[in-house]
Amino acid sequence: MSQMSSEVLLSDSLEAMKKMQSSTIDMVYLDPPFFTNRHHSAINRNRTQKFSFSDVWNGISEYAEFMEDRLKQIHRLLKDTGSIFVHCDKNSNFLLRGLLNDVFGEDQFRSEIIWTYRRWSNSAKGLMPAHQTIFFYSKTEQFKFNRIYCPYSETTNVDQILQLRARDKFGISSYATNENGENVYGGIKKGVPLSDVWEIPFLNPKAKERTGYPTQKPVLLLERVVEISTEPGDLVLDPFCGSGTTLVAAKILGRRSIGMDCSEEAVDLAQRRLDSLEKTESALMKKGRAAYINVDSEALALLGGLDIVPVQRNAGIDAFLKISIGNSPVPIRVQRQGEHLFDAANKLAKASQSKNAIRAILVRTHEDNTLFSEIVLPENIVLVDATAFQVNQTISKLIANFLIAHTATEETSRNHYELF
Ligand SMILES: C[S@@+](CC[C@H](N)C(=O)[O-])C[C@H]1O[C@@H](n2cnc3c(N)ncnc32)[C@H](O)[C@@H]1O
Repeated sequence: MSQMSSEVLLSDSLEAMKKMQSSTIDMVYLDPPFFTNRHHSAINRNRTQKFSFSDVWNGISEYAEFMEDRLKQIHRLLKDTGSIFVHCDKNSNFLLRGLLNDVFGEDQFRSEIIWTYRRWSNSAKGLMPAHQTIFFYSKTEQFKFNRIYCPYSETTNVDQILQLRARDKFGISSYATNENGENVYGGIKKGVPLSDVWEIPFLNPKAKERTGYPTQKPVLLLERVVEISTEPGDLVLDPFCGSGTTLVAAKILGRRSIGMDCSEEAVDLAQRRLDSLEKTESALMKKGRAAYINVDSEALALLGGLDIVPVQRNAGIDAFLKISIGNSPVPIRVQRQGEHLFDAANKLAKASQSKNAIRAILVRTHEDNTLFSEIVLPENIVLVDATAFQVNQTISKLIANFLIAHTATEETSRNHYELF
């Protein structure tokens, strides 16, 4: 297989895997039949193609044997640094957990990921199912794992973001303090490590990436699996690839992939998806992030392009730069419309002092309407002009220069005329 390719094989996954070399795969994700004892079928958007696959078994032993044979092959194929992600739901999670413990070993259990999503309604009596399970096991302790950090929740205050934590002699974690009892600044933290509960929306009927394949999973979900467990160029295997979601996610993220499916229409579809990559972004996931960012979106928009951590509930500071000066954080604030520069600077200076910042940046957005032309700002404040402010200043100067030049020309030509 070439350096950056994706391959889709029409085959029973067991037969195809038996032909592959041991220890060659970096990560396997599988979304096998879930033991629903149903035929799954669905139709594409313009109703030109019907897709289906069977999930009907002669009892649970047949299903268990089917899965065990394939899990053993996957174990053989994985490199020592590799991991497996097994997607299932309430129909088979109890069985698959046991099989994974047998084949990979209980010690290699890493996480039970809960993929949760909103559903519209459910007529059945009882609680509405709103999650599926992905079991994450590694082949050895040397498994690859990339940390992902998520934004802090809107209730996180600025001290939680900045201050170092330490354990006391009883092992209890609290803010670290120095010999004077003052809190110690610990640098900007990256966010909250990704948890094992993933809220990613189900594909809605109008989603661009929706193919009509039954039980198709969202690319965003597979991207996350690929992202945490592999590096660019790594080889990903999906032995039940269906419409090819894993392969699409792998290709978007620059990983190589092999997909297998025993259905010809699935293989054709997966191939077509790889030829024209489509991913539906989630408004919900974005809205979540935006809602966290800040109430004052206008001020934050002016900080666009900077690597910052926005700050909630602080009258003096809008954000911190992710880079610090020595060990000192760099707060930043935008002057609000109608706010005097002096007031903005004072609020920032006061808030910065309590965060031990040696320098703080104030973004000036307008000229103050004040009698005093010279304002002395607090010492630690560095003033930077917003782009719009600079453009307004420049254009005012250009207009003034133009008017002066124009008046001068008129004067000269009048004098010239009078001379003759
Ligand atoms: C739940 S679907 C996978 C859906 C896929 N994750 C997606 O996003 O489109 C399970 C797939 O396994 C395939 N399958 C079932 N038995 C198989 C076998 N023995 N070998 C290979 N594929 C099989 C079915 O054809 C079906 O496409």
